Amino acid sequence: MRVNRSGPPGPTPLRSTGALLLEREDELRLVDEVLDAGRSGNGGLLLVRGAPGVGKTGLLQAAVQGAFEADMSVLRVRGAELEQRFAWGTVHELFATTIDARDPASGRPLLSGAAALAAPVLIDGATGDGDAPRTRSPGPPAEARFAVAHGLYWHLADLAEETPIAVVVDDAHWVDVASLHFLLHLAGRLDGLPVALVVAARTQADRERDVLLGQLAAAPDARCCSPAPLSAAGVETLLDRELGAAAARWLGAVCHRQAGGNPFLTSELINELRRSGVPASAAGAEMVAQLQPSRVTRSVSARLSVLGSEATDLARAVAVLGGPAEARLAAAVARQDLERATLQADGLARSGILSPARPLDFVHPLVETAVRDEIAAGERALLHRRAFEALVADGADPRSSASHLLHTEPDGDDETVRLLRVAAAAAVDRGDPDTAIALLDRARRESVAAGEDPELLEDLGRVQLAAGDPAGIDRLELARGTQRDPRRRAGLDLTVAVARYERGEASAAKATLARGLAEELPEDDEIRVSLQAADLTVTRSLLQAPVPDEEAAAATLARHGNGRTPVERLTLAQLAFQGLQTGELPYRTVAELARHAVPPLHGEGIDTLDRLALPLAGMSLYFSDAGEAAEVAFSAEIDRSQLQGARMAFATASFFRGVARFLRGRLIGAIDDWQVAIDAARDGWAFALPSSRALRALVALDRDELELADELLALPGGDEPWTAHPTFPYVLATRGVRATADGRPQEGLELLLRCGERQEAQGIRNPSVMHWQAEAALAAFAAGDERRARDLARELLRRTERYGAPRALGIARRTAGLVGEGDPDGLLTGSVHVLERSEGELELARSLLELGAWQRRAGQRTTSRETLRRAIDVAERCGASALSRRGSDELRVAGGRPRRLRISGSDALTSSERRVADLAAEGLTNRQIAQRLFVTLRTVETHLTHVYGKLDVDRAGLAEAMAGGAHT
Ligand SMILES: Nc1ncnc2c1ncn2[C@@H]1O[C@H](COP(=O)(O)OP(=O)(O)OP(=O)(O)O)[C@@H](O)[C@H]1O
Ligand SMILES: [Mg+2]
Repeated sequence: MRVNRSGPPGPTPLRSTGALLLEREDELRLVDEVLDAGRSGNGGLLLVRGAPGVGKTGLLQAAVQGAFEADMSVLRVRGAELEQRFAWGTVHELFATTIDARDPASGRPLLSGAAALAAPVLIDGATGDGDAPRTRSPGPPAEARFAVAHGLYWHLADLAEETPIAVVVDDAHWVDVASLHFLLHLAGRLDGLPVALVVAARTQADRERDVLLGQLAAAPDARCCSPAPLSAAGVETLLDRELGAAAARWLGAVCHRQAGGNPFLTSELINELRRSGVPASAAGAEMVAQLQPSRVTRSVSARLSVLGSEATDLARAVAVLGGPAEARLAAAVARQDLERATLQADGLARSGILSPARPLDFVHPLVETAVRDEIAAGERALLHRRAFEALVADGADPRSSASHLLHTEPDGDDETVRLLRVAAAAAVDRGDPDTAIALLDRARRESVAAGEDPELLEDLGRVQLAAGDPAGIDRLELARGTQRDPRRRAGLDLTVAVARYERGEASAAKATLARGLAEELPEDDEIRVSLQAADLTVTRSLLQAPVPDEEAAAATLARHGNGRTPVERLTLAQLAFQGLQTGELPYRTVAELARHAVPPLHGEGIDTLDRLALPLAGMSLYFSDAGEAAEVAFSAEIDRSQLQGARMAFATASFFRGVARFLRGRLIGAIDDWQVAIDAARDGWAFALPSSRALRALVALDRDELELADELLALPGGDEPWTAHPTFPYVLATRGVRATADGRPQEGLELLLRCGERQEAQGIRNPSVMHWQAEAALAAFAAGDERRARDLARELLRRTERYGAPRALGIARRTAGLVGEGDPDGLLTGSVHVLERSEGELELARSLLELGAWQRRAGQRTTSRETLRRAIDVAERCGASALSRRGSDELRVAGGRPRRLRISGSDALTSSERRVADLAAEGLTNRQIAQRLFVTLRTVETHLTHVYGKLDVDRAGLAEAMAGGAHT
């Protein structure tokens, strides 16, 4: 494992001849531009790509030099061939000095705010140490990675606030994938950051890295270059510098041809010419032409053999440690005393293998690779063990030395097992299950001679499952077989059963649960209760077309009514959700089940099972007229996800809360939440993207924002990628509503019926979930197909009455009234009555409007004016401007005079502006706001400038100005 240089990183002298770079004017200009952008606070990014030895590192050195001259701080690092698989290794090294440099005694917290999310990666031992810790079950890897990247970003932003920073990353083709994700995260958020990011990578990288590097190149404002090989004239200049004018004249052309203008190969060739004393003449040129095209390996091993075996040992030690390596460590690995080793290092430097600088390092990565490739497998394993022992004896963090153990032969050492497990636990904390698996696997091979260790197997299995690898199930089964404690066996059964169930293997899951329940445990044992609850869920899913009845619901409530454990809560949530989808349970029962299924509002994080239960419970609540409880639950989840930097969970919870708000008629709040969700698509969120856009578009129609609605209904990348998405029917529905309103009712009807088919196919038969039937009836009516309209309305009435939720009932009665399925007066009045007792304010406004219009047409002008005034009031409170405008039109026809619309300040803001302004009004700093909303500081500043302008206030007046307006 490479050792960090201590102290602030200094400029390294140009390694070649200390000379200027030839033929790099364009590239150097780009370097300057990017540094300027960084220094001036705009953020800059340069990606250098090219063949090995073409001069990428040379350009990066120029960048480092330039940064120092411009008084910027420099953070630099390079990818290491040996450590590519260690998540966050590069980042850890990049920031090593920034953590050391901060004095905890200064009172300034090391990592404050969101930056603290990076602690597991930045600070050794931030996540416990000592005895082999049990590897805990990690969360979803992508989410954990985002949280760390978010934390690192803010750590860097905090540092850059003091001095502009150049972040210089070399050999990115060897940078671990997690660190590359961070670079990408940073690249997309450089705007407004005093940071210049300069990255170099070989053209050939593996697939995954190649994709990530391609995305880096596509980042906004990224500059890219690929330095070309030197021209013949350039090669002559090099020869002139190294061997004199005559050599340049006679040998320049042939050297250029032999090395293809590659600066590294040229310098190797020059080494060779010097070594074998080729004359500067026509004969010399002939000799060069006869040379095998320069093979680095050959020339390196030739030079090593001249120096002798001790030098070779030392070079190999450095190669195994991975340069730069402290001389004392290399000496220990080579089994030499420090004095001997120092002398050998000098010899290696003289023959152009190691650089003369300390710590020991090769002159070039290609030379390092050449030396490493010459070591036979057995010797390599031995050297890695020595490297590991030397590092541990030297006081290095055992977790960072564990990489060496992966390259050694197992020999049944308990201490090795312990260290590997420490390292694995740390890898999980860093959000790197793959490395954890590799380490645990290696630990298992180490210990296997002494018999399987059930705990080790269990850790391995759990991490595998969390990483989505089904092999974890077999591992846990194996662990169960060796486990003596019945309670632990039952616990394993629970985990395995849940995993099988999630993979759709319900019968296998049931068998596993039965096995766990057969263990002798006390009746009220928590694991036993959880097994029972899980059994209930699994059994239910095994029945064909499960239709929950009230009796079963009551029994479940009686048994698990407290929702004490995550499994219990998931059981309740699933039962509620089934009742909701089929519409076969009374809505009050569904809401009751769901209330008990909501995870505790406060507390650190929520369990994986709770993550599954929360949306089911939330939907069951808000579609059963208990939206307020759902809103509270999702708000808690939003807070949690913001604090944990959980970007995807934040978007998902925002989407759900938006629906809860929408159903309660709080359109502005819904818009704000959905905007969060829609924006998150940029970071890869797709969970409910079609429905977020479709519902946002539906609200746009209620607010007279037709263009916006059309924009939202055009899905990113067209429909094709989305048609199979479970929330795609929402898009069909809004398009249907839009077409009908646009005077194309036939088309609207078809779209709505298609939506209905999809919903039914998904088992959703409850109109409370989505009232496509109401819209379809109206479309059919508008299309002149009155019979069809009445059929649809009748079926809708039947189903909603069965479920009983007031909001849906109000919609059904209104629809029936409008299409003539019964007495319009009675139905519309009935609709208003039931809606008055529901949460559905928007629907109340609609029904009042229709009732008022009907009253006017029936000649009841006074009553009609009263009804319409109420309709306008409610619509305005909801933020439904199209409805209130329609109300005013009707009112005018009825002989009334509409009041002027109350436009309050905050209504003039965009969603993003309002979100920022709300948090600012709460007293959060710009930095806190940016961290909470996962945006850059500059974005916050820009929004606030607009807000101040629109509301004509300053920060102090913000709270008051935001207090008015439609309720959210
Ligand atoms: N434009 C140049 N003019 C003169 N010498 C150069 C030039 N570019 C690179 N060199 C020299 O050539 C050698 C190889 O360059 P460098 O290490 O920058 O290559 P690289 O692209 O980083 O290779 P790798 O992909 O293996 O890391 C170095 O000794 C360097 O000083
Ligand atoms: Mg290089």
